[in-house]
Amino acid sequence: MGRDVIIACDFSSMEKTLEFLDNFKEEKPYVKIGMELYYAAGAEIVRELKRRGHKIFLDLKLHDIPNTVKKSMAVLSSLDVDMCNLHASGTIAMMEAAIEGLTREDGTRPLLIAVTQLTSTSQERMTNDLLIDKPIDEVVMHYAHNAKLAGLDGVVCSPLEASKVKDKCGKEFLTVTPGVRFADGDIGDQVRVTTPEKAKEIGSDYIVVGRPITAAEDPVAAYRRCVAEFVGE
Ligand code: C5P
Repeated sequence: MGRDVIIACDFSSMEKTLEFLDNFKEEKPYVKIGMELYYAAGAEIVRELKRRGHKIFLDLKLHDIPNTVKKSMAVLSSLDVDMCNLHASGTIAMMEAAIEGLTREDGTRPLLIAVTQLTSTSQERMTNDLLIDKPIDEVVMHYAHNAKLAGLDGVVCSPLEASKVKDKCGKEFLTVTPGVRFADGDIGDQVRVTTPEKAKEIGSDYIVVGRPITAAEDPVAAYRRCVAEFVGE
């Protein structure tokens, strides 16, 4: 499986998203649709971007009882997304149900990736709010391993965790990593960041890049720079 750059299309409407993607005349970037855009524009945004030839990571982070997740995943699979995700904290049973729901009659299915602990969750909050009395790194690795046991394809993680995940779950287990910034760029609200080049060295399979591309003066040039650094022509 080849490395790729996924643009986080964190826009609030279909119109703004299409206006942004119209900048790309030669490439069809892989795009991430998150909750804000999906809840604003609905399934039609997925259909429209598929019609335009984009690959889609639908980032809706499902977490519910196994039967509900299974049925919901079947709906997402019928939208022909390329990658979707869920919370590993929903248990192995929930993740297995998700795979069942995603798998189409012909045996194909979108890639399924797990969120372990959100990067916004600190050790302190996990211990005090969630009563999980273990070091957060251990929890992240355990959840990644559960995802692997359930048959998932990989996890979303910090690029700085990617090599540890590969050590624990095997090098085929995919790492999808946000928190990417150019060496000379603004880091914004991200804390633990890495460059596309470094993410490549560490072994990320996909980098998810939002504002360094979407807020750039020349988004196409910024995207090309990401691809050149991460994929390397
Ligand atoms: O604009 P920026 O490059 O920070 O966008 C990163 C994208 O990845 C956003 O859509 C953000 O929600 C998502 N993300 C993240 N950190 C995580 C999980 C997802 O930044 N741990």
